[in-house]
Amino acid sequence: MPAYSPYEEEARMILRSWLFVPGDSERKLEKSRDNPADALILDLEDAVSDTRQEVARAMLQDYLKDRADRSRQQLWVRINPMDSPLAVDDLAAVMQGSPDGICLPKPSSAADVNRLDHYLGALEAREGIPQGTTRILAIATETADALLRFGTYLDGVSKRLTAMTWGAEDLMAAMGATTNRIPGSDTYDGPFALARSLALTTARAIDIQPVGGVYTDFRNDDGLAAECAGDRRNGFVGKLAIHPNQVPIINAAFTPTDEEVDWARRVVAIFEENPGAGALSLDGKMLDMPHLKQARDVIALASDRLH
Ligand code: COA
Ligand code: MG
Repeated sequence: MPAYSPYEEEARMILRSWLFVPGDSERKLEKSRDNPADALILDLEDAVSDTRQEVARAMLQDYLKDRADRSRQQLWVRINPMDSPLAVDDLAAVMQGSPDGICLPKPSSAADVNRLDHYLGALEAREGIPQGTTRILAIATETADALLRFGTYLDGVSKRLTAMTWGAEDLMAAMGATTNRIPGSDTYDGPFALARSLALTTARAIDIQPVGGVYTDFRNDDGLAAECAGDRRNGFVGKLAIHPNQVPIINAAFTPTDEEVDWARRVVAIFEENPGAGALSLDGKMLDMPHLKQARDVIALASDRLH
């Protein structure tokens, strides 16, 4: 895959909150304009019925063109899966509005991401968009076979793939399961916990942003906050949202606190003051290379803000 170096810095900007907006809902599209989400995912897939596809494509094209300034909020589009006949027409329509990225549902493996990369290259040429600048977020765990093909992402995947998330809802249907959480709790059950861990691990292995899955109980703020905390503890850097009210909770959870930033700055400083040191002590605790990496990650999380 070609490296798109001029854009790599920009591509690394960390997005904390990604709000799904049904692509055929004028009201929700309007409503999301001043929502504080770092990115919107304008949906052409599951939130839009079969009979509304063409309407939604036209609406999103207009919406994207109307919102050409993306400095406060990025605009991404979720297309239909690569194996559906709708995907290419979705892309042909929305690329005219130059979205920041494409959210790809139900990829079977990295091959689907790479095929999307080729389509995007052709459409960028048609639209006069700089090559390689349209990014990809993959929802990598929506089918059973995808779970068994995570290794393909390590064998060479498009540089456009800058974020990976996971989905428990479609996977639940694919597995013939009746629920994805342990009854009476918010804890994911076996196969779904596995999917979450695979997505997180794979994203880290290929150095892209791991994004936590949706929390569907959208009136339960405490439950969402707890899940965000767990996601962040495990290494996710942001989370998908389905309702506007979820966004401030997600933004807060994925923004390092002042104490965390202060600790991180002190860790970086002490390593800079002691060049060549592998292990040091701070506040009576041992610090070594993993802590330095952690500290740098906190500083990146705190500074890579759109607004
Ligand atoms: N994006 C933008 N605005 C949204 C929104 C969203 N995802 N979800 C709700 N809103 C708006 C509503 O239109 C409403 O505004 P209004 O009062 O001006 O009409 C306001 O926020 C409050 O909404 P509320 O009444 O609490 O929710 P609802 O019952 O209208 O909608 C859902 C609930 C789940 C249907 C809705 O949140 C939704 O469509 N979510 C996205 C679903 C989706 O994209 N799924 C695919 C990805 S998993
Ligand atoms: Mg889905």
